Amino acid sequence: MNNEMGFDKIDPGSVPPVSEPDRQYYFIAKCRLWVRAFAEKRGRVPTACVTTFGCQMNAKDSEKLTGILRKAGYEILDSEKADFVIFNTCTVRDNANQKVYGRLGELNGYKKKNPDMRIALCGCMMQEPAVIEKMKKSYAFVDLIFGTHNIYKFAELLWTMLENENKGMIIDIWQDTDRIVEELPIERKYPFKSGINIMFGCNNFCSYCIVPYVRGRERSRQPEDIIREIKNLVAEGVVEVMLLGQNVNSYGKNLEDPISFAQLLREVEKIEGLQRIRFMTSHPKDLSDELIQVIKESKKICRHLHLPLQSGSTKILERMNRRYTKEQYVALALKIRREIPDIAITTDIIVGFPGETRKDLEETIDVVRRVKFDNAFTFIYSKRTGTPAAAMEDQVPQDQVKEGFDRLLKIVQETAKEQTAKYQGRVMDVLMEEVNESNPAMVTGRLSNNTVVHVPADASVIGKILPVSLKECHGFYYIGELL
Ligand code: SAH
Ligand code: SF4
Ligand code: F3S
Repeated sequence: MNNEMGFDKIDPGSVPPVSEPDRQYYFIAKCRLWVRAFAEKRGRVPTACVTTFGCQMNAKDSEKLTGILRKAGYEILDSEKADFVIFNTCTVRDNANQKVYGRLGELNGYKKKNPDMRIALCGCMMQEPAVIEKMKKSYAFVDLIFGTHNIYKFAELLWTMLENENKGMIIDIWQDTDRIVEELPIERKYPFKSGINIMFGCNNFCSYCIVPYVRGRERSRQPEDIIREIKNLVAEGVVEVMLLGQNVNSYGKNLEDPISFAQLLREVEKIEGLQRIRFMTSHPKDLSDELIQVIKESKKICRHLHLPLQSGSTKILERMNRRYTKEQYVALALKIRREIPDIAITTDIIVGFPGETRKDLEETIDVVRRVKFDNAFTFIYSKRTGTPAAAMEDQVPQDQVKEGFDRLLKIVQETAKEQTAKYQGRVMDVLMEEVNESNPAMVTGRLSNNTVVHVPADASVIGKILPVSLKECHGFYYIGELL
């Protein structure tokens, strides 16, 4: 029953099925009836908007939410002036939360003008009890709240909300789950590339990080399910996939028939018609020689590795519970550079972790200079309630953090520019992704190593991998010319 054909045969008057995903298809059918009744009454189809905060995992989840809304009959809009708006939230740093609170205020304004409007919240932020309390107290205009573990029940929750007819906030938050529900509807943002969840959750408990608390324990999908999904995507025209997990290097370890991430990549490589394979994120502690070998031998795995450093000070790394030392990280990065010379290594760095001194920051800068990151995302440490680091006493004074952050950013930008400039004058393959927002005469794409290239071209090239001459390097990106 878990396909469109079967789904249309569902009788929404019957008893809801117990098994998933059949149960969700049943509730989509119920929502469809509601949508039809709305359309008859109002003379128009109801509209919906899904707004995503946070990482690629959330972006992927939002594609699933959109897929269900579309199947239920909603017209999907980019604008939040819609009949149904759902915020898929992030809580990795406090500024992510603040954005949601700000935007919710705006939504309340829209809702006052549109009595049909319903508002839902889901995602990582909703897994925090303090957030739920705040919602109940100060954001009573929100209609539905659910979390990361029961997102697969969205159709059922949507139906409950529609049936509830504005009689108050519905909250359904689970503490954890060991389930993975396959074969739910999805609406992909790009026709030619797609993210693929290979695992959910995280077991690492880095001491600053809230993700394990809001995303639950690590669970891997079955390799057959992943391969089948990618084959179907390729048949639909996808040429590039991004395998997603908080720590892809520990993929498959807890499956009944364990399989390594490197072995999974070997299987993905075999899929005919697939041209590029990316993955995110690699924890340095679990990066195997086997993986380096697989990347090296592969014709499809992109020349890009995101390898979060977080800090270059062994003392801080220990307090962060990262389970590698400065020297281990540098040795690993240099080994990768030696084995795969054209690979780009990018990273994440946190400045201002509790107890970080100026000397610790110098250690981080030393790693940046030695590894020469091709790009780095630098973050100011954000205290997350409930994490071990939040209880650490020696929080760093703000002015020292600011000064360190600015100094690090300058150095990171220098090495990134230097690394990007290496390809000046070369001809390299670019996957053409989208018409440039600020200059519609240009199309923006990416090299295998993830560097952005802008090329004078029209939309007809989008989705194609084409050779481009890299004419001018502008810091972090190139202006190129199609051959
Ligand atoms: N699983 C990935 C990271 C997910 S979060 C990994 O381990 O690499 C993305 C990035 O956000 C992290 O790499 C880290 O640099 C940053 N981050 C996480 N928690 C943070 C916090 N409390 N304050 C500042 N930055 C944080
Ligand atoms: Fe957070 Fe660490 Fe897990 Fe990454 S590996 S999600 S930083 S706990
Ligand atoms: Fe944010 Fe959740 Fe991703 S906290 S970074 S959306 S896993």
